[in-house]
Amino acid sequence: MTQHRNDTRTALVVLAHHRSDSLTAHTARRTTAQLEAAGYRVDLLDLHAEGFDPRMTEADQPDWGNREKTYSREVRDHMRRVLEADVVVAVFPVYWQSVPAVLKGWIDRVWNYGFAYGRSKPRLAGKRMLWLALAGAAADDPVTEGMHSLLEANLSEGIAYYCGFSHSRVGLLPDAEDRPQRVDAEGNLLVGDAVSGAGREAQYADFDRRAREFVEKFLAHEAVAV
Ligand SMILES: Cc1cc2nc3c(=O)[nH]c(=O)nc-3n(C[C@H](O)[C@H](O)[C@H](O)COP(=O)(O)O)c2cc1C
Repeated sequence: MTQHRNDTRTALVVLAHHRSDSLTAHTARRTTAQLEAAGYRVDLLDLHAEGFDPRMTEADQPDWGNREKTYSREVRDHMRRVLEADVVVAVFPVYWQSVPAVLKGWIDRVWNYGFAYGRSKPRLAGKRMLWLALAGAAADDPVTEGMHSLLEANLSEGIAYYCGFSHSRVGLLPDAEDRPQRVDAEGNLLVGDAVSGAGREAQYADFDRRAREFVEKFLAHEAVAV
Protein backbone atom coordinates (compact mmCIF):
# COMPACT_ATOMS: atom_id res chain seq x y z
CA MET A 1 0.00 0.00 0.00
CA THR A 2 1.34 3.44 -0.85
CA GLN A 3 0.54 6.65 0.90
CA HIS A 4 -1.42 9.10 -1.23
CA ARG A 5 0.40 12.43 -1.44
CA ASN A 6 -0.16 15.59 -3.38
CA ASP A 7 -0.84 19.20 -2.48
CA THR A 8 -4.41 18.54 -1.41
CA ARG A 9 -4.77 17.18 2.08
CA THR A 10 -7.25 14.40 2.62
CA ALA A 11 -9.73 13.97 5.46
CA LEU A 12 -11.49 10.71 6.15
CA VAL A 13 -14.82 11.47 7.83
CA VAL A 14 -16.18 8.34 9.47
CA LEU A 15 -19.91 8.50 10.18
CA ALA A 16 -21.27 5.92 12.60
CA HIS A 17 -25.05 6.23 12.64
CA HIS A 18 -27.90 4.13 11.29
CA ARG A 19 -30.20 7.07 10.34
CA SER A 20 -29.34 9.61 7.67
CA ASP A 21 -31.74 12.13 9.30
CA SER A 22 -29.95 11.90 12.67
CA LEU A 23 -28.19 14.82 14.31
CA THR A 24 -25.00 12.77 14.02
CA ALA A 25 -25.36 12.45 10.22
CA HIS A 26 -26.22 16.14 10.00
CA THR A 27 -23.04 16.95 11.98
CA ALA A 28 -20.95 14.71 9.71
CA ARG A 29 -22.33 16.48 6.61
CA ARG A 30 -21.60 19.91 8.07
CA THR A 31 -18.11 18.79 9.08
CA THR A 32 -17.52 17.51 5.55
CA ALA A 33 -18.54 20.89 4.10
CA GLN A 34 -16.32 22.69 6.61
CA LEU A 35 -13.31 20.53 5.74
CA GLU A 36 -13.91 21.02 2.02
CA ALA A 37 -14.16 24.79 2.53
CA ALA A 38 -10.79 24.57 4.32
CA GLY A 39 -9.32 22.92 1.19
CA TYR A 40 -9.47 19.26 2.13
CA ARG A 41 -10.46 16.45 -0.18
CA VAL A 42 -13.00 14.53 1.90
CA ASP A 43 -13.63 10.81 1.79
CA LEU A 44 -16.93 10.33 3.63
CA LEU A 45 -17.16 6.82 5.02
CA ASP A 46 -20.74 6.16 6.12
CA LEU A 47 -20.28 2.83 7.89
CA HIS A 48 -23.97 1.85 7.89
CA ALA A 49 -24.68 3.01 4.33
CA GLU A 50 -21.65 1.08 3.10
CA GLY A 51 -22.81 -2.00 4.99
CA PHE A 52 -19.70 -2.34 7.11
CA ASP A 53 -19.94 -5.44 9.29
CA PRO A 54 -18.37 -4.72 12.70
CA ARG A 55 -18.13 -8.39 13.68
CA MET A 56 -14.60 -9.76 13.86
CA THR A 57 -13.87 -12.56 11.39
CA GLU A 58 -11.20 -15.23 11.23
CA ALA A 59 -9.73 -13.54 8.16
CA ASP A 60 -9.29 -10.30 10.08
CA GLN A 61 -8.29 -11.68 13.44
CA PRO A 62 -4.68 -10.71 14.17
CA ASP A 63 -2.06 -13.43 13.93
CA TRP A 64 0.43 -12.46 16.64
CA GLY A 65 3.12 -14.50 14.89
CA ASN A 66 2.70 -12.70 11.57
CA ARG A 67 2.35 -8.95 11.44
CA GLU A 68 2.42 -9.17 7.61
CA LYS A 69 -0.83 -11.14 7.54
CA THR A 70 -3.02 -10.39 4.51
CA TYR A 71 -6.42 -9.39 5.84
CA SER A 72 -9.74 -9.60 3.97
CA ARG A 73 -10.29 -7.54 0.81
CA GLU A 74 -12.88 -5.39 2.63
CA VAL A 75 -10.50 -4.55 5.45
CA ARG A 76 -7.62 -3.87 3.04
CA ASP A 77 -9.87 -1.38 1.20
CA HIS A 78 -10.58 0.39 4.48
CA MET A 79 -6.87 0.36 5.39
CA ARG A 80 -6.13 2.08 2.09
CA ARG A 81 -8.69 4.79 2.85
CA VAL A 82 -7.14 5.36 6.29
CA LEU A 83 -3.64 5.52 4.79
CA GLU A 84 -4.73 8.09 2.21
CA ALA A 85 -6.03 10.37 4.94
CA ASP A 86 -3.97 13.05 6.64
CA VAL A 87 -6.69 13.53 9.22
CA VAL A 88 -9.45 11.24 10.40
CA VAL A 89 -12.66 12.68 11.88
CA ALA A 90 -15.06 10.19 13.46
CA VAL A 91 -18.61 11.47 14.07
CA PHE A 92 -20.75 9.28 16.33
CA PRO A 93 -23.27 9.20 19.16
CA VAL A 94 -21.89 8.28 22.57
CA TYR A 95 -23.26 4.87 23.52
CA TRP A 96 -22.53 3.77 27.08
CA GLN A 97 -19.72 6.29 27.45
CA SER A 98 -18.04 4.79 24.43
CA VAL A 99 -18.38 4.50 20.64
CA PRO A 100 -21.28 2.60 19.01
CA ALA A 101 -20.63 -1.00 18.00
CA VAL A 102 -20.23 -0.24 14.29
CA LEU A 103 -17.36 2.17 14.98
CA LYS A 104 -15.78 -0.11 17.56
CA GLY A 105 -15.90 -2.98 15.06
CA TRP A 106 -14.37 -0.78 12.36
CA ILE A 107 -11.45 -0.04 14.68
CA ASP A 108 -11.18 -3.68 15.79
CA ARG A 109 -11.06 -5.03 12.24
CA VAL A 110 -9.32 -2.24 10.33
CA TRP A 111 -6.85 -0.75 12.81
CA ASN A 112 -5.22 -4.11 12.88
CA TYR A 113 -1.94 -5.69 13.98
CA GLY A 114 0.95 -4.89 11.66
CA PHE A 115 -0.99 -2.00 10.16
CA ALA A 116 -2.05 0.27 13.01
CA TYR A 117 0.17 -1.17 15.75
CA GLY A 118 2.86 -3.76 16.31
CA ARG A 119 5.64 -1.92 14.43
CA SER A 120 8.30 0.42 15.77
CA LYS A 121 6.88 2.97 13.33
CA PRO A 122 3.16 2.33 12.84
CA ARG A 123 1.79 3.12 9.40
CA LEU A 124 -0.62 5.62 10.91
CA ALA A 125 2.21 7.59 12.54
CA GLY A 126 1.83 11.34 12.22
CA LYS A 127 -1.84 11.39 11.31
CA ARG A 128 -4.32 13.48 13.30
CA MET A 129 -7.62 12.44 14.72
CA LEU A 130 -10.74 14.23 15.90
CA TRP A 131 -13.52 12.30 17.60
CA LEU A 132 -16.79 14.27 17.43
CA ALA A 133 -18.92 12.60 20.08
CA LEU A 134 -22.60 13.52 20.39
CA ALA A 135 -23.98 12.86 23.86
CA GLY A 136 -27.51 12.89 25.17
CA ALA A 137 -26.39 14.14 28.59
CA ALA A 138 -26.82 17.82 29.38
CA ALA A 139 -23.70 20.02 29.37
CA ASP A 140 -24.21 20.91 33.05
CA ASP A 141 -24.86 17.32 34.12
CA PRO A 142 -22.03 16.25 36.49
CA VAL A 143 -21.60 13.01 34.46
CA THR A 144 -20.50 14.96 31.40
CA GLU A 145 -17.02 15.89 32.64
CA GLY A 146 -16.23 12.32 33.66
CA MET A 147 -17.53 11.09 30.30
CA HIS A 148 -15.14 13.42 28.50
CA SER A 149 -12.14 12.16 30.52
CA LEU A 150 -13.17 8.58 29.91
CA LEU A 151 -13.51 9.12 26.17
CA GLU A 152 -10.11 10.88 25.98
CA ALA A 153 -8.47 8.03 27.89
CA ASN A 154 -10.12 5.37 25.75
CA LEU A 155 -10.06 6.94 22.29
CA SER A 156 -7.05 9.29 22.31
CA GLU A 157 -4.68 7.49 24.65
CA GLY A 158 -5.87 3.91 24.36
CA ILE A 159 -6.36 3.89 20.60
CA ALA A 160 -5.05 6.88 18.58
CA TYR A 161 -1.74 7.47 20.40
CA TYR A 162 -1.20 3.73 20.73
CA CYS A 163 -1.45 3.60 16.92
CA GLY A 164 1.05 6.43 16.39
CA PHE A 165 -1.29 9.35 15.74
CA SER A 166 0.49 12.60 16.55
CA HIS A 167 -2.62 14.39 17.75
CA SER A 168 -6.00 13.20 18.96
CA ARG A 169 -8.84 15.09 20.62
CA VAL A 170 -12.36 14.21 21.66
CA GLY A 171 -14.83 17.01 20.86
CA LEU A 172 -17.66 16.14 23.23
CA LEU A 173 -21.02 17.59 22.15
CA PRO A 174 -23.52 17.22 25.00
CA ASP A 175 -27.20 18.24 24.71
CA ALA A 176 -27.63 16.18 21.54
CA GLU A 177 -31.22 15.28 22.48
CA ASP A 178 -34.14 17.61 21.81
CA ARG A 179 -35.49 16.62 25.24
CA PRO A 180 -33.01 17.46 28.02
CA GLN A 181 -31.85 14.42 29.97
CA ARG A 182 -30.19 13.94 33.31
CA VAL A 183 -29.95 11.23 35.92
CA ASP A 184 -30.98 12.04 39.50
CA ALA A 185 -29.26 10.89 42.68
CA GLU A 186 -31.40 7.73 42.75
CA GLY A 187 -30.41 6.79 39.22
CA ASN A 188 -33.68 7.75 37.55
CA LEU A 189 -33.49 9.12 34.03
CA LEU A 190 -35.26 12.50 34.01
CA VAL A 191 -36.41 13.53 30.55
CA GLY A 192 -37.55 17.15 30.14
CA ASP A 193 -40.05 18.63 27.70
CA ALA A 194 -39.15 18.67 24.04
CA VAL A 195 -37.80 21.98 22.83
CA SER A 196 -39.76 23.31 19.88
CA GLY A 197 -40.03 26.29 17.55
CA ALA A 198 -37.50 29.08 18.02
CA GLY A 199 -36.07 27.37 21.10
CA ARG A 200 -35.24 24.31 19.08
CA GLU A 201 -33.71 26.40 16.27
CA ALA A 202 -31.52 28.15 18.84
CA GLN A 203 -30.53 24.83 20.44
CA TYR A 204 -29.43 23.36 17.13
CA ALA A 205 -27.69 26.55 16.04
CA ASP A 206 -25.70 26.42 19.26
CA PHE A 207 -24.97 22.74 18.70
CA ASP A 208 -23.72 23.44 15.16
CA ARG A 209 -21.57 26.29 16.47
CA ARG A 210 -19.92 24.05 19.09
CA ALA A 211 -19.24 21.33 16.50
CA ARG A 212 -17.81 23.90 14.11
CA GLU A 213 -15.50 25.27 16.80
CA PHE A 214 -14.06 21.84 17.52
CA VAL A 215 -13.26 21.36 13.83
CA GLU A 216 -11.80 24.89 13.58
CA LYS A 217 -9.53 24.31 16.58
CA PHE A 218 -8.50 20.96 15.21
CA LEU A 219 -7.61 22.49 11.83
CA ALA A 220 -5.74 25.37 13.50
CA HIS A 221 -3.62 22.79 15.31
CA GLU A 222 -3.09 21.03 11.96
CA ALA A 223 -1.91 24.29 10.34
CA VAL A 224 0.62 24.90 13.14
CA ALA A 225 1.89 21.33 13.07
CA VAL A 226 2.37 21.00 9.28
C1 LIG B 1 -27.52 2.49 23.39
C2 LIG B 1 -27.41 3.94 23.76
C3 LIG B 1 -26.49 4.30 24.75
C4 LIG B 1 -26.33 5.63 25.10
N1 LIG B 1 -25.40 5.98 26.03
C5 LIG B 1 -25.21 7.27 26.36
C6 LIG B 1 -24.22 7.64 27.32
O1 LIG B 1 -23.50 6.81 27.88
N2 LIG B 1 -24.08 8.97 27.61
C7 LIG B 1 -24.85 9.93 26.99
O2 LIG B 1 -24.67 11.12 27.28
N3 LIG B 1 -25.78 9.61 26.05
C8 LIG B 1 -25.98 8.31 25.74
N4 LIG B 1 -26.92 7.97 24.79
C9 LIG B 1 -27.66 9.05 24.10
C10 LIG B 1 -27.03 9.32 22.73
O3 LIG B 1 -25.70 9.79 22.86
C11 LIG B 1 -27.87 10.37 21.98
O4 LIG B 1 -29.14 9.80 21.80
C12 LIG B 1 -27.30 10.71 20.62
O5 LIG B 1 -26.08 11.37 20.74
C13 LIG B 1 -28.27 11.64 19.86
O6 LIG B 1 -27.79 11.82 18.55
P1 LIG B 1 -28.59 11.18 17.31
O7 LIG B 1 -29.94 11.85 17.30
O8 LIG B 1 -27.75 11.53 16.12
O9 LIG B 1 -28.70 9.70 17.55
C14 LIG B 1 -27.12 6.63 24.46
C15 LIG B 1 -28.06 6.26 23.47
C16 LIG B 1 -28.20 4.93 23.14
C17 LIG B 1 -29.22 4.55 22.10
